[in-house]
Amino acid sequence: MNVAITGGGGFLGRRLSQALLAEKGVGRIVLLDATPMGPSSGDSRVETRCANLLDPGVARSAVEAADVIFHLAAVVSGQAEAEFDLGMSVNLDATRSLLEAARATGRQPKFVFSSSLAVFGPPLPETVTDETAVHPRSSYGAQKAVGELLVTDFSRRGFVDGRVLRLPTVCVRPGAPNAAASSFVSGIIREPLHGKRANCPVDPDTELWLSSPRAAVANLVHAASLPGEALGQGRIINLPGITVRVCEMIEALARVAGRGVADLVSFNDDPGVRRIVSGWPARFDVSRALDLGFVRDHDFSALIRDYLARDESASAVRRA
Ligand SMILES: NC(=O)c1ccc[n+]([C@@H]2O[C@H](COP(=O)([O-])OP(=O)(O)OC[C@H]3O[C@@H](n4cnc5c(N)ncnc54)[C@H](O)[C@@H]3O)[C@@H](O)[C@H]2O)c1
Repeated sequence: MNVAITGGGGFLGRRLSQALLAEKGVGRIVLLDATPMGPSSGDSRVETRCANLLDPGVARSAVEAADVIFHLAAVVSGQAEAEFDLGMSVNLDATRSLLEAARATGRQPKFVFSSSLAVFGPPLPETVTDETAVHPRSSYGAQKAVGELLVTDFSRRGFVDGRVLRLPTVCVRPGAPNAAASSFVSGIIREPLHGKRANCPVDPDTELWLSSPRAAVANLVHAASLPGEALGQGRIINLPGITVRVCEMIEALARVAGRGVADLVSFNDDPGVRRIVSGWPARFDVSRALDLGFVRDHDFSALIRDYLARDESASAVRRA
């Protein structure tokens, strides 16, 4: 099985490629990203390509040998809101080009599209189900929603064998803050663990729908392993997550790393971020996803411990 991952140098793309290397039957993996990816994994099956999906021919050559395509490349929510044209090009035009490139292979490849809970917005029911209509409150959410429809229709036409995963917000994301409206969700855990102050731009009672990186990657891998018949016409899946209030996240941080660490978080409202994030749902009925074998996290403290286990420098700060 040959694989192509767009956004392969990003947070989830890198981890996904590592996870795939441990799977049986994986041949070549093409990691495509517009940002230079640094040293490769050392595994000869992995090929890194620094190229922009918007440039002519890039999508076609990335997927020409692929049996499975993971389309993760995206402009994240805050940036897509600030730079409308860029968001439309990458999140929408490049998605369509990639679908056309997949169709042109004539082999009906599996096409796993990373969508987001940002397709939803008010009015929201108490619990989002598979029948809940999408009402995006951001350009990013609208672009993901159109991508979902395209993947569904390309699948109905038999051009690709698509699967759309609506990912929860993934936490704890390592590295520097990014331009996502949800960047603070990881920031209020990660920065204090490194001894740094962090601001929370939303109310402490705000509820979030979260996934660990581990569960998110396991679910991407699982999506590609499912036979198309298991999905039928229903190509869109609300992935499992956990519902956590911001104040519960800070309490978990205090339990895992100490009160002094949790006290590094301050609360200063940012109306722009609050407007986007408060429109996102935090409670989902994910029975279909669980029936299909997708996995879930169980408690937020484990997400912090997972991060500490992977990030040696944060662990060192904790031990000091
Ligand atoms: N991380 C989350 O919390 C989360 C939540 C919901 C959905 N998602 C979705 O999952 C996917 C992966 O998320 P992530 O956190 O790894 O994002 P990321 O920003 O770390 O990675 C995305 C990658 O796409 C690349 N990219 C952007 N434009 C490109 C282009 N024109 N051509 C080629 N590459 C391009 C970027 O360089 C980046 O490395 C995205 O589609 C995102 O919308 C992520």
